[in-house]
Amino acid sequence: MTASQPMIASQPIPAPRGDVFAAARARFPGAAKWTYLDVAGRGILPSTTRAAVDAYLDMNVADGGDKAAMFAMVESARARFAALINAAPDEIAIIKNISEGLNAVACAYPWREGDEVVVCAEREHPNNIYLWHNLARRCGIVPVQVANEGGHVPVERMIAAIGPKTRMVSVSSTTFLPGFRTDLDTLGAACRERGVILLVDGAQSAGILAHDMARTPVDALVVSTQKGLLGLYGMGFLYVRRAVAEGLSPVYLARFGVDLGDAHEADGGNDDYALMPGARRFDLGNHNFPAAAAVDASMAMLADVGVPAIEAHACGLALSLAEGLKDLGLPIWGLPPGPHLANMVTVGGPGGDFSWAEPLYAHLAQNGVKLSVRRGLLRFSFHLYNDASDVGRVLDLVRGWRDAGNRISS
Ligand SMILES: Cc1ncc(COP(=O)(O)O)c(C=O)c1O
Repeated sequence: MTASQPMIASQPIPAPRGDVFAAARARFPGAAKWTYLDVAGRGILPSTTRAAVDAYLDMNVADGGDKAAMFAMVESARARFAALINAAPDEIAIIKNISEGLNAVACAYPWREGDEVVVCAEREHPNNIYLWHNLARRCGIVPVQVANEGGHVPVERMIAAIGPKTRMVSVSSTTFLPGFRTDLDTLGAACRERGVILLVDGAQSAGILAHDMARTPVDALVVSTQKGLLGLYGMGFLYVRRAVAEGLSPVYLARFGVDLGDAHEADGGNDDYALMPGARRFDLGNHNFPAAAAVDASMAMLADVGVPAIEAHACGLALSLAEGLKDLGLPIWGLPPGPHLANMVTVGGPGGDFSWAEPLYAHLAQNGVKLSVRRGLLRFSFHLYNDASDVGRVLDLVRGWRDAGNRISS
Protein backbone atom coordinates (compact mmCIF):
# COMPACT_ATOMS: atom_id res chain seq x y z
CA MET A 1 0.00 0.00 0.00
CA THR A 2 1.33 3.46 -0.85
CA ALA A 3 1.34 6.44 1.49
CA SER A 4 -1.48 8.03 -0.46
CA GLN A 5 -3.77 5.01 -0.07
CA PRO A 6 -5.70 5.61 3.14
CA MET A 7 -7.34 2.93 5.27
CA ILE A 8 -10.81 2.49 6.68
CA ALA A 9 -10.11 1.05 10.12
CA SER A 10 -7.58 -1.68 9.25
CA GLN A 11 -8.90 -2.58 5.81
CA PRO A 12 -7.17 -1.23 2.70
CA ILE A 13 -9.61 0.48 0.36
CA PRO A 14 -9.57 -0.04 -3.39
CA ALA A 15 -7.02 1.83 -5.48
CA PRO A 16 -8.48 4.85 -7.32
CA ARG A 17 -9.44 4.33 -10.97
CA GLY A 18 -8.16 7.44 -12.72
CA ASP A 19 -10.18 7.00 -15.92
CA VAL A 20 -13.44 6.72 -14.01
CA PHE A 21 -12.67 9.89 -12.08
CA ALA A 22 -11.65 11.79 -15.21
CA ALA A 23 -14.98 10.84 -16.81
CA ALA A 24 -16.83 11.89 -13.67
CA ARG A 25 -14.98 15.23 -13.50
CA ALA A 26 -15.98 16.02 -17.07
CA ARG A 27 -19.62 16.09 -15.95
CA PHE A 28 -19.02 18.98 -13.54
CA PRO A 29 -18.82 22.39 -15.24
CA GLY A 30 -17.95 23.88 -11.84
CA ALA A 31 -14.82 21.74 -11.60
CA ALA A 32 -13.54 23.31 -14.84
CA LYS A 33 -14.43 26.84 -13.75
CA TRP A 34 -13.00 26.68 -10.22
CA THR A 35 -10.48 24.82 -8.16
CA TYR A 36 -13.48 23.62 -6.20
CA LEU A 37 -12.38 22.42 -2.76
CA ASP A 38 -15.48 23.11 -0.72
CA VAL A 39 -17.76 20.10 -0.59
CA ALA A 40 -17.67 20.55 3.21
CA GLY A 41 -19.65 23.75 2.51
CA ARG A 42 -21.69 22.31 -0.35
CA GLY A 43 -20.97 20.22 -3.42
CA ILE A 44 -21.19 21.23 -7.05
CA LEU A 45 -23.79 19.59 -9.24
CA PRO A 46 -23.05 17.43 -12.27
CA SER A 47 -24.80 18.51 -15.45
CA THR A 48 -26.74 15.21 -15.44
CA THR A 49 -28.32 16.25 -12.15
CA ARG A 50 -29.22 19.63 -13.58
CA ALA A 51 -30.97 17.77 -16.42
CA ALA A 52 -32.98 15.69 -13.93
CA VAL A 53 -34.17 18.81 -12.08
CA ASP A 54 -34.99 20.48 -15.40
CA ALA A 55 -37.07 17.46 -16.39
CA TYR A 56 -38.96 17.70 -13.10
CA LEU A 57 -39.59 21.42 -13.60
CA ASP A 58 -40.63 20.85 -17.22
CA MET A 59 -43.36 18.50 -15.97
CA ASN A 60 -44.59 21.19 -13.62
CA VAL A 61 -44.54 23.85 -16.31
CA ALA A 62 -46.28 21.71 -18.91
CA ASP A 63 -48.81 19.78 -16.86
CA GLY A 64 -48.68 20.89 -13.25
CA GLY A 65 -46.65 17.81 -12.39
CA ASP A 66 -47.56 14.18 -11.91
CA LYS A 67 -47.91 13.23 -8.25
CA ALA A 68 -47.36 9.51 -8.83
CA ALA A 69 -44.15 10.28 -10.69
CA MET A 70 -43.05 12.60 -7.87
CA PHE A 71 -43.53 9.89 -5.27
CA ALA A 72 -41.81 7.32 -7.47
CA MET A 73 -38.82 9.68 -7.56
CA VAL A 74 -38.80 10.04 -3.77
CA GLU A 75 -38.96 6.26 -3.38
CA SER A 76 -36.14 5.86 -5.86
CA ALA A 77 -34.02 8.34 -3.88
CA ARG A 78 -34.89 6.59 -0.61
CA ALA A 79 -33.89 3.21 -2.06
CA ARG A 80 -30.65 4.58 -3.51
CA PHE A 81 -29.66 6.12 -0.21
CA ALA A 82 -30.52 2.86 1.60
CA ALA A 83 -28.31 0.97 -0.86
CA LEU A 84 -25.49 3.49 -0.39
CA ILE A 85 -25.31 2.77 3.35
CA ASN A 86 -26.40 -0.90 3.18
CA ALA A 87 -29.71 -0.40 4.96
CA ALA A 88 -33.33 -1.21 4.03
CA PRO A 89 -35.57 1.47 2.47
CA ASP A 90 -37.96 1.19 5.44
CA GLU A 91 -35.11 2.31 7.67
CA ILE A 92 -34.91 5.65 5.83
CA ALA A 93 -37.10 8.73 6.40
CA ILE A 94 -37.16 11.81 4.21
CA ILE A 95 -36.25 14.94 6.13
CA LYS A 96 -35.32 18.55 5.48
CA ASN A 97 -31.85 18.92 6.96
CA ILE A 98 -29.51 17.67 9.67
CA SER A 99 -31.20 19.72 12.39
CA GLU A 100 -34.57 18.18 11.66
CA GLY A 101 -33.23 14.62 11.62
CA LEU A 102 -31.29 14.96 14.87
CA ASN A 103 -34.27 16.59 16.57
CA ALA A 104 -36.65 13.95 15.21
CA VAL A 105 -34.72 11.15 16.90
CA ALA A 106 -33.79 13.04 20.05
CA CYS A 107 -37.33 14.27 20.70
CA ALA A 108 -38.95 10.89 19.94
CA TYR A 109 -37.08 9.26 22.81
CA PRO A 110 -39.02 8.84 26.09
CA TRP A 111 -36.56 10.82 28.25
CA ARG A 112 -36.84 10.94 32.00
CA GLU A 113 -35.43 13.69 34.14
CA GLY A 114 -31.73 13.08 34.84
CA ASP A 115 -31.18 10.90 31.73
CA GLU A 116 -27.89 11.70 30.01
CA VAL A 117 -26.59 12.21 26.50
CA VAL A 118 -22.84 12.15 25.83
CA VAL A 119 -21.52 14.69 23.34
CA CYS A 120 -18.17 16.25 22.46
CA ALA A 121 -19.59 19.73 21.93
CA GLU A 122 -16.19 21.28 21.11
CA ARG A 123 -16.14 19.33 17.87
CA GLU A 124 -19.83 19.36 16.96
CA HIS A 125 -21.69 21.73 14.67
CA PRO A 126 -24.04 23.99 16.70
CA ASN A 127 -26.96 22.08 15.13
CA ASN A 128 -25.87 19.06 17.14
CA ILE A 129 -25.58 21.06 20.37
CA TYR A 130 -28.61 23.31 20.81
CA LEU A 131 -31.09 20.45 20.66
CA TRP A 132 -29.51 18.93 23.78
CA HIS A 133 -29.64 22.23 25.67
CA ASN A 134 -33.27 22.52 24.61
CA LEU A 135 -34.05 19.03 25.92
CA ALA A 136 -32.20 19.87 29.12
CA ARG A 137 -34.53 22.86 29.60
CA ARG A 138 -37.65 21.07 28.47
CA CYS A 139 -37.22 17.58 29.99
CA GLY A 140 -34.38 17.87 32.49
CA ILE A 141 -31.92 15.69 30.58
CA VAL A 142 -28.22 16.18 31.26
CA PRO A 143 -25.82 16.72 28.35
CA VAL A 144 -22.50 15.22 29.47
CA GLN A 145 -19.78 17.14 27.66
CA VAL A 146 -16.57 15.34 26.81
CA ALA A 147 -13.50 17.43 25.94
CA ASN A 148 -11.85 16.89 22.56
CA GLU A 149 -8.27 15.67 22.28
CA GLY A 150 -6.16 17.65 19.83
CA GLY A 151 -9.08 18.07 17.46
CA HIS A 152 -10.21 14.45 17.69
CA VAL A 153 -13.51 13.24 19.09
CA PRO A 154 -12.00 11.06 21.85
CA VAL A 155 -13.91 7.83 21.45
CA GLU A 156 -12.40 6.17 24.53
CA ARG A 157 -13.34 9.19 26.66
CA MET A 158 -16.84 9.17 25.20
CA ILE A 159 -17.16 5.50 26.14
CA ALA A 160 -15.81 6.20 29.62
CA ALA A 161 -18.45 8.92 30.02
CA ILE A 162 -21.29 6.44 29.39
CA GLY A 163 -22.94 5.71 32.74
CA PRO A 164 -26.12 4.04 33.99
CA LYS A 165 -28.20 7.12 33.07
CA THR A 166 -26.80 7.50 29.54
CA ARG A 167 -29.46 6.96 26.90
CA MET A 168 -27.77 8.40 23.80
CA VAL A 169 -24.37 9.33 22.41
CA SER A 170 -24.40 11.93 19.64
CA VAL A 171 -21.43 12.46 17.35
CA SER A 172 -20.41 13.49 13.83
CA SER A 173 -19.05 10.85 11.47
CA THR A 174 -16.56 13.48 10.27
CA THR A 175 -16.34 16.76 12.17
CA PHE A 176 -16.99 20.00 10.31
CA LEU A 177 -13.69 21.25 11.76
CA PRO A 178 -10.95 20.07 11.55
CA GLY A 179 -12.59 17.33 9.46
CA PHE A 180 -11.35 14.22 11.26
CA ARG A 181 -13.35 11.04 11.05
CA THR A 182 -14.75 9.44 14.19
CA ASP A 183 -14.13 5.79 14.96
CA LEU A 184 -17.78 4.77 14.75
CA ASP A 185 -17.00 1.04 14.86
CA THR A 186 -15.49 1.26 18.34
CA LEU A 187 -17.98 3.81 19.68
CA GLY A 188 -20.93 1.95 18.17
CA ALA A 189 -19.85 -1.40 19.61
CA ALA A 190 -19.56 0.13 23.09
CA CYS A 191 -22.99 1.79 22.77
CA ARG A 192 -24.61 -1.40 21.54
CA GLU A 193 -23.11 -3.39 24.42
CA ARG A 194 -24.53 -0.90 26.92
CA GLY A 195 -27.95 -0.48 25.27
CA VAL A 196 -27.26 3.18 24.43
CA ILE A 197 -28.48 4.76 21.16
CA LEU A 198 -25.69 6.06 18.89
CA LEU A 199 -26.98 9.03 16.88
CA VAL A 200 -24.63 10.16 14.10
CA ASP A 201 -24.50 13.45 12.21
CA GLY A 202 -23.33 12.29 8.79
CA ALA A 203 -23.40 15.73 7.12
CA GLN A 204 -19.73 15.64 6.20
CA SER A 205 -19.30 12.03 5.18
CA ALA A 206 -22.39 10.92 3.22
CA GLY A 207 -21.50 10.18 -0.39
CA ILE A 208 -17.76 10.57 0.27
CA LEU A 209 -16.85 8.01 2.94
CA ALA A 210 -18.22 4.48 2.80
CA HIS A 211 -20.80 3.65 5.46
CA ASP A 212 -22.16 0.18 6.02
CA MET A 213 -24.99 0.06 8.52
CA ALA A 214 -24.90 -3.74 8.57
CA ARG A 215 -21.29 -3.63 9.80
CA THR A 216 -21.05 -0.48 11.90
CA PRO A 217 -23.32 -0.41 14.96
CA VAL A 218 -24.93 2.97 14.34
CA ASP A 219 -28.55 3.37 15.44
CA ALA A 220 -29.42 6.56 13.58
CA LEU A 221 -27.57 8.46 10.85
CA VAL A 222 -28.68 11.89 9.65
CA VAL A 223 -27.52 13.33 6.33
CA SER A 224 -28.38 16.32 4.18
CA THR A 225 -28.19 16.23 0.41
CA GLN A 226 -26.30 19.39 -0.60
CA LYS A 227 -22.79 18.28 0.35
CA GLY A 228 -21.31 14.90 -0.57
CA LEU A 229 -24.57 13.59 -2.01
CA LEU A 230 -24.37 16.38 -4.62
CA GLY A 231 -27.97 17.48 -4.29
CA LEU A 232 -29.80 20.60 -3.16
CA TYR A 233 -30.47 22.33 0.13
CA GLY A 234 -33.72 21.48 1.90
CA MET A 235 -33.64 17.69 1.81
CA GLY A 236 -31.95 14.99 3.85
CA PHE A 237 -32.25 11.35 4.85
CA LEU A 238 -32.68 9.90 8.32
CA TYR A 239 -31.58 6.31 8.78
CA VAL A 240 -32.94 4.67 11.92
CA ARG A 241 -32.21 1.01 12.57
CA ARG A 242 -35.56 -0.76 12.42
CA ALA A 243 -35.58 -2.08 16.01
CA VAL A 244 -34.68 1.36 17.35
CA ALA A 245 -37.17 3.22 15.13
CA GLU A 246 -40.01 0.98 16.26
CA GLY A 247 -39.33 1.90 19.88
CA LEU A 248 -39.60 5.61 19.09
CA SER A 249 -42.71 7.71 18.96
CA PRO A 250 -42.38 10.70 16.62
CA VAL A 251 -43.16 14.12 18.07
CA TYR A 252 -44.46 15.36 14.72
CA LEU A 253 -46.88 12.99 13.00
CA ALA A 254 -48.57 13.38 9.64
CA ARG A 255 -50.13 11.29 6.91
CA PHE A 256 -46.98 9.69 5.53
CA GLY A 257 -45.93 8.50 8.97
CA VAL A 258 -49.21 6.58 9.29
CA ASP A 259 -49.73 3.14 7.74
CA LEU A 260 -52.85 3.11 5.56
CA GLY A 261 -51.55 0.66 2.99
CA ASP A 262 -52.13 1.84 -0.57
CA ALA A 263 -54.83 4.35 0.38
CA HIS A 264 -54.68 7.80 -1.20
CA GLU A 265 -52.66 10.42 0.66
CA ALA A 266 -55.84 12.37 1.45
CA ASP A 267 -57.52 9.31 3.04
CA GLY A 268 -57.49 8.53 6.75
CA GLY A 269 -57.54 10.92 9.66
CA ASN A 270 -59.29 9.05 12.47
CA ASP A 271 -57.78 8.16 15.83
CA ASP A 272 -57.42 4.47 15.04
CA TYR A 273 -54.08 4.32 13.27
CA ALA A 274 -50.77 2.48 13.23
CA LEU A 275 -47.41 4.10 12.66
CA MET A 276 -45.48 3.22 9.51
CA PRO A 277 -42.90 0.48 9.99
CA GLY A 278 -39.30 1.44 10.69
CA ALA A 279 -38.07 4.95 10.05
CA ARG A 280 -40.95 5.77 7.68
CA ARG A 281 -42.92 6.94 10.73
CA PHE A 282 -40.72 10.05 10.61
CA ASP A 283 -41.92 11.01 7.10
CA LEU A 284 -44.31 13.94 7.36
CA GLY A 285 -46.09 15.60 4.44
CA ASN A 286 -45.17 16.40 0.86
CA HIS A 287 -41.49 16.42 0.07
CA ASN A 288 -38.95 18.70 -1.56
CA PHE A 289 -39.47 17.05 -4.96
CA PRO A 290 -36.91 19.05 -6.99
CA ALA A 291 -34.30 18.17 -4.36
CA ALA A 292 -35.36 14.51 -4.62
CA ALA A 293 -34.91 14.66 -8.41
CA ALA A 294 -31.44 16.13 -7.92
CA VAL A 295 -30.15 13.73 -5.31
CA ASP A 296 -31.65 10.72 -7.06
CA ALA A 297 -29.64 11.52 -10.19
CA SER A 298 -26.46 12.33 -8.25
CA MET A 299 -26.65 9.17 -6.16
CA ALA A 300 -26.98 7.10 -9.34
CA MET A 301 -23.63 8.55 -10.41
CA LEU A 302 -22.05 8.06 -6.98
CA ALA A 303 -23.17 4.42 -6.98
CA ASP A 304 -21.72 3.89 -10.47
CA VAL A 305 -18.31 5.08 -9.34
CA GLY A 306 -18.66 3.43 -5.92
CA VAL A 307 -18.29 5.24 -2.60
CA PRO A 308 -15.29 3.13 -1.42
CA ALA A 309 -13.40 4.22 -4.55
CA ILE A 310 -14.52 7.84 -4.04
CA GLU A 311 -13.28 7.66 -0.47
CA ALA A 312 -9.84 6.46 -1.56
CA HIS A 313 -9.70 9.14 -4.26
CA ALA A 314 -10.84 12.07 -2.10
CA CYS A 315 -8.79 11.08 0.97
CA GLY A 316 -5.69 10.47 -1.16
CA LEU A 317 -5.96 13.96 -2.66
CA ALA A 318 -6.52 15.48 0.79
CA LEU A 319 -3.41 13.77 2.09
CA SER A 320 -1.28 14.97 -0.81
CA LEU A 321 -2.51 18.57 -0.28
CA ALA A 322 -1.86 18.32 3.47
CA GLU A 323 1.68 17.07 2.94
CA GLY A 324 2.38 19.60 0.19
CA LEU A 325 1.19 22.51 2.33
CA LYS A 326 3.19 21.25 5.28
CA ASP A 327 6.32 21.09 3.08
CA LEU A 328 5.69 24.74 2.18
CA GLY A 329 5.72 25.59 5.89
CA LEU A 330 2.01 25.81 6.73
CA PRO A 331 0.69 24.36 9.98
CA ILE A 332 -1.68 21.50 9.13
CA TRP A 333 -4.11 20.12 11.68
CA GLY A 334 -3.98 16.33 11.60
CA LEU A 335 -0.55 15.36 10.31
CA PRO A 336 0.98 12.83 10.46
CA PRO A 337 -1.91 10.98 8.82
CA GLY A 338 -3.76 8.23 10.66
CA PRO A 339 -7.15 6.57 10.71
CA HIS A 340 -8.66 10.01 11.39
CA LEU A 341 -7.76 11.16 7.87
CA ALA A 342 -10.83 12.01 5.78
CA ASN A 343 -11.38 14.18 2.72
CA MET A 344 -10.59 17.48 4.47
CA VAL A 345 -7.49 19.54 5.16
CA THR A 346 -7.53 22.25 7.81
CA VAL A 347 -4.77 24.83 7.88
CA GLY A 348 -4.14 26.09 11.40
CA GLY A 349 -4.93 24.41 14.68
CA PRO A 350 -6.04 24.95 18.21
CA GLY A 351 -4.62 28.16 19.75
CA GLY A 352 -2.04 30.34 18.04
CA ASP A 353 -2.29 33.44 15.89
CA PHE A 354 -3.84 32.66 12.52
CA SER A 355 -4.51 36.25 11.47
CA TRP A 356 -2.44 35.50 8.33
CA ALA A 357 -5.02 32.92 7.21
CA GLU A 358 -7.64 35.48 6.06
CA PRO A 359 -5.28 37.27 3.59
CA LEU A 360 -4.16 33.88 2.28
CA TYR A 361 -7.82 32.91 1.87
CA ALA A 362 -8.46 36.12 -0.09
CA HIS A 363 -5.46 35.39 -2.33
CA LEU A 364 -6.71 31.86 -3.08
CA ALA A 365 -10.30 33.01 -3.61
CA GLN A 366 -9.18 35.77 -6.01
CA ASN A 367 -7.37 33.10 -7.99
CA GLY A 368 -10.35 30.81 -8.41
CA VAL A 369 -10.03 28.50 -5.42
CA LYS A 370 -13.26 27.73 -3.59
CA LEU A 371 -12.65 26.77 0.01
CA SER A 372 -14.08 27.83 3.34
CA VAL A 373 -12.96 29.64 6.46
CA ARG A 374 -14.28 28.16 9.68
CA ARG A 375 -13.45 29.76 13.03
CA GLY A 376 -10.59 31.62 11.36
CA LEU A 377 -9.00 28.49 9.83
CA LEU A 378 -8.79 27.45 6.18
CA ARG A 379 -10.70 24.32 5.25
CA PHE A 380 -10.18 22.48 1.95
CA SER A 381 -12.37 19.50 1.08
CA PHE A 382 -12.33 16.97 -1.77
CA HIS A 383 -14.83 14.88 -3.69
CA LEU A 384 -14.86 12.69 -6.78
CA TYR A 385 -14.69 15.66 -9.20
CA ASN A 386 -11.30 16.79 -7.86
CA ASP A 387 -7.97 15.66 -9.23
CA ALA A 388 -4.24 16.20 -8.74
CA SER A 389 -4.35 19.43 -10.77
CA ASP A 390 -6.47 20.99 -7.99
CA VAL A 391 -3.82 20.09 -5.43
CA GLY A 392 -1.07 21.44 -7.71
CA ARG A 393 -2.95 24.70 -8.27
CA VAL A 394 -3.30 25.40 -4.53
CA LEU A 395 0.34 24.51 -3.85
CA ASP A 396 1.51 26.83 -6.67
CA LEU A 397 -0.60 29.69 -5.34
CA VAL A 398 0.59 29.22 -1.77
CA ARG A 399 4.22 28.95 -2.89
CA GLY A 400 3.90 32.18 -4.89
CA TRP A 401 2.27 33.91 -1.93
CA ARG A 402 5.00 32.76 0.45
CA ASP A 403 7.81 33.64 -1.98
CA ALA A 404 6.37 37.15 -2.32
CA GLY A 405 7.18 37.58 1.39
CA ASN A 406 3.73 36.98 2.88
CA ARG A 407 3.38 35.28 6.23
CA ILE A 408 2.01 31.70 6.14
CA SER A 409 2.60 30.58 9.71
CA SER A 410 2.24 31.88 13.25
C1 LIG B 1 -21.44 18.40 10.80
C2 LIG B 1 -22.55 19.32 10.38
N1 LIG B 1 -23.77 19.22 10.92
C3 LIG B 1 -24.78 20.04 10.56
C4 LIG B 1 -24.61 21.00 9.60
C5 LIG B 1 -25.74 21.89 9.19
O1 LIG B 1 -26.99 21.47 9.68
P1 LIG B 1 -28.33 21.70 8.83
O2 LIG B 1 -28.34 20.73 7.71
O3 LIG B 1 -29.41 21.45 9.79
O4 LIG B 1 -28.32 23.12 8.35
C6 LIG B 1 -23.34 21.14 8.99
C7 LIG B 1 -23.04 22.16 7.96
O5 LIG B 1 -23.75 22.57 7.14
C8 LIG B 1 -22.30 20.28 9.39
O6 LIG B 1 -21.09 20.38 8.84
